[in-house]
Formats: sequence, C-alpha cells, structure tokens
Amino acid sequence: MRKKTVIANWKMNYDFHETTSFIRNFLKFVFERKINHNKEIIIAPSFPFLHISNQILQGTTLNIAAQNIYQKDEGAYTGEVSAPMLKSIGVQKVILGHSERREFFFEKNNVLLEKIKIALKYSFNIIFCVGESSIERSNNQQFEVVKNQLKETVFHCSSDEIKFFHIAYEPVWAIGTGTTATFEQVQTMHEFIRSLFFKKYGENISNKISILYGGSINDFNAKNFFSQKDIDGGLVGKSSLELEKFLKIVES
Ligand code: PGA
Repeated sequence: MRKKTVIANWKMNYDFHETTSFIRNFLKFVFERKINHNKEIIIAPSFPFLHISNQILQGTTLNIAAQNIYQKDEGAYTGEVSAPMLKSIGVQKVILGHSERREFFFEKNNVLLEKIKIALKYSFNIIFCVGESSIERSNNQQFEVVKNQLKETVFHCSSDEIKFFHIAYEPVWAIGTGTTATFEQVQTMHEFIRSLFFKKYGENISNKISILYGGSINDFNAKNFFSQKDIDGGLVGKSSLELEKFLKIVES
C-alpha cells in the first residue's frame, strides 16, 4: 500500500515572517483540531527559509523540500545553491523538473539528469515533475511527451536509485490556471506512467513508485484526486498558500 503524500510548493512566495507563522499555525491547528491525515506532508519554502522551517518542524512528522538545486558540487556559479549546502542544513528532499524551471530557466532533460545525479549523490529524495503543454495535449502527444521526459532523465537511474523518487504528473495547462485535469485524464496518465516503470524496472518497483498529481488542486477537488487508484497524493501550489485550504487538502 503506497502512502499518500501532499507537498506544498510555495514557489517564490512568502517572506520570513509569513513562512514561519504559516508553519507554526499549521502545526498548531493539526494538533488542536486533531487532524488525522495519514499522509506524508512536505513543505517547500524558498531557499532562505529552509533552515528555520526545518528547525520549526524538528520532532514532527512533517518534512521540507528545496525547490531546486544546482548540478555541481561547488564552485564559481554565482547565485546558485548546491546539494551539499542544502544537506548541511538538514534538507533531504528536492523538487526537480518543475515546468516553471523548464520554461523560465530553460532546464532541459540533459541538465535535469545532471541535477538528478547530484541529488542522488547526496542521497536526496527527489520529486520529479513531468507533464505536457496544452498544445501537446491538443495534438494528443501527452503520452509521448511524458514518456520522453522520463526516458531522458529518471530512466537513466538504477532500480536502487528509483527508491529515492516521487514522480509528479503536472500538465502545464493545469498549473496555476484554475483548470484542473479531469480525474479520468489524470488516472489514465498515472496508469500509463506506472506501466512505463513496469516495463523498465518490473512489477515490484512499478507497484511502489509514488505518482503525485499537480495542477490546480484545491480543497474541493483533492479528495476525488486522492481516491483514484494510481494517484498517490498531490503537489499543490496556490492552494497550499492558504492555511485553511491546505489543512482541508491534507485532511482529504
Ligand atoms: P498550482 O501549482 O496548484 O497552483 O496549480 C502546482 C505546481 O506548480 O506544483
């Protein structure tokens, strides 16, 4: 049985005070309202607040994730943040391949593979995002696109390394738009992704790999997504920035 996971991807939102008070209030409400979520909960704040967030979450079951890493160990790469730097402040998870990184920062599959390799070198858990654009979906290329994204990145990893992954299916047309994919569209894609893992790594890994959905998840639709057979949770953007909404999502 795969455990459900909910990840708050805060992107470039929230300053120090907003980050710390959200996390403190979240913990307080979960405790006071006895919220029974049975899920792995991960919060991905901006780089400067990972350390304090991690300190606040010490002793709880919640975890943090970085939203990116650079693909080198160290060196003259002004403005970048390395895996060992994050590791030194206790970060153990990272989101890679998000469509905003692909689109605005031109991260191609070859660079993403380098990021995967460095993340694995420092034993990070990786939330790896895949997903097609609206044009690709209207041309019915979604399966081919997602297959290729995996083939050129994650599928270069060994069976042992795959244990470090969550896959997040995030159709680009559903991110931040308020337009969600239908449950059927997502379930079909997740089943397809699982079948690719089956072909590449066999039954055991394909049964175990956690496949999350992301794209306009909110407090109303979360329950339906999370109840689909192959949807193992969600990567939540906008709705994770509102405390009450996020509490409902983790409760879904
Ligand atoms: P959204 O973002 O929930 O605002 O659509 C999801 C994501 O980008 O991970």
